[in-house]
Amino acid sequence: MCGIIGYCGPKPAAPILVEGLRRLEYRGYDSAGICVVENGHLELHKKKGKLAALSSVLPPNVVGNYGIGHTRWATHGEVTDINAHPHIDGAGKIAIAHNGIVENHESLREKLTDDGYVFISETDSEVIVHLIHSLYEGDLEAAIKQAVQLLTGTYGIVAVHADEPNRVVGARNGSPLVLGIGDDEMFLASDVTAIVAHTKQVVYIEDHEVVTITPDDYRTTDLTDRPIDKKIEFISWELAEIEKDGYTHFMQKEILEQASSIKRAMQGRLNKETATGHLGGLNLSSKELLEIERVKIIGAGTSFYAAMVAAYLIESIGRIPCSAELASEVRYRNPVVERNTLYFAVSQSGETADTLYAMRELQRKGARVLGICNAVGATIPRESDGGVYIHSGPEIAVASTKAFTSQLTAFYIFTLIMARMRHMSFEEGSNFIRALEKVPDQVESILARSDKLAELAAKYAHFNNVLFLGRGLNYPVALEGALKLKEVSYIHAEGYSAAEIKHGPIALINEQTPSVFIVTNDSLREKVISNMKEVKARRGPVIALCVEGDTEVMAIADDHFAVPSAHELMYPYLMMVPLQMYAYHTALVLGRDVDQPRNLAKSVTVE
Ligand code: M6R
Repeated sequence: MCGIIGYCGPKPAAPILVEGLRRLEYRGYDSAGICVVENGHLELHKKKGKLAALSSVLPPNVVGNYGIGHTRWATHGEVTDINAHPHIDGAGKIAIAHNGIVENHESLREKLTDDGYVFISETDSEVIVHLIHSLYEGDLEAAIKQAVQLLTGTYGIVAVHADEPNRVVGARNGSPLVLGIGDDEMFLASDVTAIVAHTKQVVYIEDHEVVTITPDDYRTTDLTDRPIDKKIEFISWELAEIEKDGYTHFMQKEILEQASSIKRAMQGRLNKETATGHLGGLNLSSKELLEIERVKIIGAGTSFYAAMVAAYLIESIGRIPCSAELASEVRYRNPVVERNTLYFAVSQSGETADTLYAMRELQRKGARVLGICNAVGATIPRESDGGVYIHSGPEIAVASTKAFTSQLTAFYIFTLIMARMRHMSFEEGSNFIRALEKVPDQVESILARSDKLAELAAKYAHFNNVLFLGRGLNYPVALEGALKLKEVSYIHAEGYSAAEIKHGPIALINEQTPSVFIVTNDSLREKVISNMKEVKARRGPVIALCVEGDTEVMAIADDHFAVPSAHELMYPYLMMVPLQMYAYHTALVLGRDVDQPRNLAKSVTVE
């Protein structure tokens, strides 16, 4: 989604803003712009397309030392130079960049047009700059405070005024905004990746707060001008973690990192002496954990598929009724919050609007919602009633990979804790831990055979439709496998429970529709093999993801990739990793923009 950055300090702002926008590229965008104040006038440059297009029109001699920048992911109005941000007022004094959606932009536009304001873009955001202008009486911060109270919707705003030197103002409601404190320089950004090269000291701005930065100071207030004391936090990760570090793509780097990211998600959370787990952030006593009668998990996209695996595990192994639901659906169906029910909101970014709003709705109804998140300090972990960080490190590629396997790890440990408090014996708990601890090495051995996945990708990349089929724990893996392929290769891919194909999707099967079957040695194996045969009988090409030594499956499939034999519950990890790599290689064969696939955004902060 859109990214914003603001800078105020002794250095020329333009290169810092462009560099910050480059670090925000991963969020997904289709145009970019900056506005720097130079000698009392606004130097505005914006361009549709990637940052290279913006850089090509930037004069080399922009020297102003405060300004704002934006990467736009179009919502209202096409992808054009004019619709790109920043937007400026007619007098050329005020510039704003906005993330979010102004829901009442039409009525505001009408009113401002009646008052003589001329709109040049189709965006909802342009109303903000004219509104600020209409309320401006010599103090940008004061005008912004009044203006945002007239907005319905969400905003993260940064703004400058040509007559207010060395001052950038930011405001937030529903779209993230973080302040970075440097040495005699200050930053505002929609996420810390934009500023971590300059500072690790940050302050998270909350909804309905306004922040004003000058080179050596900042001030945070509420909308009634009451000062708010904010806690300074430290970003623990290193700049190298948001660099490609010699890899061609972030997606490749992040897939290959998984042996270590899974290990990190387990670190200090498994206890062999007691054969159970420990998740400190849950903030629940043993008594409270024992009282839980139901678990409900919400999420979106890949996080939702991790939630589906978790629901299966928590119910079948933890023996607690558990369900996963799309956050976007939960919010609007007036959900019933039951007693003794524990909710989880799972999100890599911790900023997904669908998940965040559903979480707030559940909390309003009295639910205790815990977060399973990756991005430290994001809104969901800050607003949840406790939770677990998965410690994957920054995930930059739009397609989520390492976050999925680390989300699974958090849920596997939660399952172990719940099961051990109920029926699971010490010995079973020990087996579970042993099996889980083997996963990183097993993942490593799969990744060492990526060449074979590249070969499969080369063979099947030119088919227009692919089905992914699995059962039980591997049904959500099939869904996630299909999501990965469609996201990065643009091939139409669908995931189903293998049992479902006879209820409809089998009509799609012919020589041109390959099916990827996930077959393990679980109790549903024979049924999945029958489904494979049904597809073969209709001349559908079959690629099997199976277990080493499974000659029966290998003999039926046209092609296969075998994973190491493992504890039956661990296959979601071992099957997912090759599917990620398969999607990655397919995208390479087709020459796609692997890290920033078309139309997609990393952090979906609008509904
Ligand atoms: O940050 P979140 O985990 O909340 O994001 C949820 C989805 O937007 C995300 O998983 C999306 O589906 C990814 N592009 C998947 O690769």
